[in-house]
Amino acid sequence: MSMALQVASASFCRFHHRNIKKIQATAAEDFAVLTSEVEKVKLGGSDLKVTKLGIGAWSWGDTTFWNDFQWDGLLLMPERKLKAAKAAFNSSIDCGITFFDTAEVYGSRLSFGAVNSETLIGSFIKERQQKDPTEVAIATKFAALPWRFGRGSVISALKDSLSRLGLSSVDLYQLHWPGIWGNEGYIDGLGDAVEMGLVKAVGVSNYSEKRLREAYGQLKKRGIPLASNQVNYSLIYRAPEENGVKAACDELGVTLIAYSPIAQGMSVLTGKYTPQNPPSGPRGQIYTPEYLTKLQPLLSRIKEIGLNYGKTPTQVVLNWLIAQENVVPIPGAKNAEQAKEFAGALGWRLTDDEITDLRSLATKINPVIGFPVEKL
Ligand SMILES: NC(=O)c1ccc[n+]([C@@H]2O[C@H](COP(=O)([O-])OP(=O)(O)OC[C@H]3O[C@@H](n4cnc5c(N)ncnc54)[C@H](OP(=O)(O)O)[C@@H]3O)[C@@H](O)[C@H]2O)c1
Repeated sequence: MSMALQVASASFCRFHHRNIKKIQATAAEDFAVLTSEVEKVKLGGSDLKVTKLGIGAWSWGDTTFWNDFQWDGLLLMPERKLKAAKAAFNSSIDCGITFFDTAEVYGSRLSFGAVNSETLIGSFIKERQQKDPTEVAIATKFAALPWRFGRGSVISALKDSLSRLGLSSVDLYQLHWPGIWGNEGYIDGLGDAVEMGLVKAVGVSNYSEKRLREAYGQLKKRGIPLASNQVNYSLIYRAPEENGVKAACDELGVTLIAYSPIAQGMSVLTGKYTPQNPPSGPRGQIYTPEYLTKLQPLLSRIKEIGLNYGKTPTQVVLNWLIAQENVVPIPGAKNAEQAKEFAGALGWRLTDDEITDLRSLATKINPVIGFPVEKL
């Protein structure tokens, strides 16, 4: 990121922080900051309002995919990554972004050296609240593991998540992926969670159009709106536009939450990853030098458009997603700088011609081959 752009995003956050209106905290987890500048949107037909962009917390504490398979060791990296993740959390809020996405499996205790992402967020919230009452919207997810049966398993997993988060309710509870069986029971469990006051809104993730319609219909019978479907969606992975998921979300009034919205860091021209310098770890298997070479024309255009607005490529691709309407991207921030940069994706809009131009360049590249979760 150029120095000028870095300074611009840093001052945006400082300006924003000064303009935060505090409101009274009513309960331990009820901390409230109403932001005057970052626009909020309703999630589907629910009453929950979240910022137009959220922050993904998968990498916080994770050792399965991120962080080169290791979180902070006691001797090697004492608390270095923890401090960076905490700074990402605090900077997001300083910039007015208060929506965070986590899951019970992020930083799962089953993976060596991991620290649970929900536990980390719980501690960040607690620490922040002691200094500065702040309202955050937390989304977490139920893992549809094959040995979990019925609606009761949803409530019991949710209660465990709440305990790690140190909250009495979460804003959004999502089924992380469709189960091999028991899906009707899981949807019933979501409805129960709403009726028990444990969640404000419910959603699904990695749901195909067919499953989405079924889940929507099942909840509707109880008068409960399905708020969201969280799927992989970015400029270089536009499967939701092609498999009916985006159209069904728009038709039913279900918000599409876009995960991996910057293609796990690949569609950004930071110079970090190039054909000569591909990423390490699992991402290197997906984003090979050949693939990165094919991306160059698109990335050049993203960069060119960004320069016209004084925006970074990351901010351009996030703005492109928001411009699709009914889409809330949740990019993953590992540190304060990344979080501040994401905030700069808000408050402006690409022109219709630029949106079309970027899509047409993107269609010349085959989408990244990922796990076809939409087909589950
Ligand atoms: N429901 C699901 O099944 C599912 C699946 C995947 C993700 N998610 C959710 O979606 C969130 C975001 O997805 P994601 O983490 O897979 O991908 P992403 O948001 O597309 O990419 C995040 C990664 O990009 C890199 N990055 C961030 N800012 C950058 C910048 N300005 N310049 C260059 N690189 C930058 C960082 O990694 P480095 O710094 O290491 O490069 C960061 O961890 C997750 O945290 C999670 O909450 C959900």
